[in-house]
Amino acid sequence: MKHLIDISDLSYEEAINLLDTAEEMASTQVRAIKKLPTLRGKTVVNLFYEDSTRTRLSFEAAAKRLSADVINFAAKGSSVSKGESLKDTALTLQAMGADAVIIRHPASGAAHRLAYAGWIDCPILNAGDGTHQHPTQALLDAMTLRRYYQADGSSPTQGTDLKGAKVVIVGDILHSRVARSNVDLLTLLGASVTLVAPPTLVPVGVETWPCKVVYNLDQALCEEPDAVMMLRVQRERMTSLGGGYFPSPTEYHREYGLDLERFKSLRPETIIMHPGPMNRGLEICAEAADSPKSVIVEQVNNGVSVRMASLYLLLAGTGENHV
Ligand code: CP
Repeated sequence: MKHLIDISDLSYEEAINLLDTAEEMASTQVRAIKKLPTLRGKTVVNLFYEDSTRTRLSFEAAAKRLSADVINFAAKGSSVSKGESLKDTALTLQAMGADAVIIRHPASGAAHRLAYAGWIDCPILNAGDGTHQHPTQALLDAMTLRRYYQADGSSPTQGTDLKGAKVVIVGDILHSRVARSNVDLLTLLGASVTLVAPPTLVPVGVETWPCKVVYNLDQALCEEPDAVMMLRVQRERMTSLGGGYFPSPTEYHREYGLDLERFKSLRPETIIMHPGPMNRGLEICAEAADSPKSVIVEQVNNGVSVRMASLYLLLAGTGENHV
């Protein structure tokens, strides 16, 4: 593969290779000197049309730890605000000699368009496009899960998958590129996924996804999942229907929040995940977010390794072994 746009583009072997490579990258990040010379002389562009903390910073850290030069482009404050198109921005980056472009964009399909329109000739990495995909988020989630979920309780060995793992993903599925990407990747790796959401926050066509959908969180938690992934309520995308996707934040928290009572009912082995940023008190209570069962900070940490692996495989790999 030339780009990383959509989890459904990955084969099982490619996904495992990415996770194994991320583990190799992680092992280099505990050294005193974290920097590797692998991408010396390459220029990586962070092209962000939407706000981001974790993804933008970790892609930047990943590229720099591989010795690439990084150009950060935020649409705010650029000529995008003067009406410049994605095409003209891409042509500008091509003229500047970008070796890879990482794009976050509010429009679903923007990363695919950038990759295949012929405007720019370099690997494109999707850092989140609309409600469509966020592949490196799913990969870092899978890496985190793989570290916790091993049938024999050991740390992950190369080539292992998530066969038998039970993952419950809760919340605003409708607007979540994280949920879509995770359903694709976790099921590719053998996990079973249950989605939980109010009916108003479930996308049309979800019955075709390779997962179960339920509307009652307590029912889903009774199945003793290995991981509970709480999703951010994306209020900034809830502009249609006058924002009436649920009656009130209090009601949402009562029905779909990981509150103290539900948190205490989880078995000791169950891990709590969240892609961030969190709405504390809405989808997750502070006690759960800050508990030892929470792997939210580890997810962020693994994000750097996954993004190093993605850049490495796309830019430094050769032939058919690309991501
Ligand atoms: N998980 C995630 O994409 O976070 P950011 O929006 O901060 O990048």
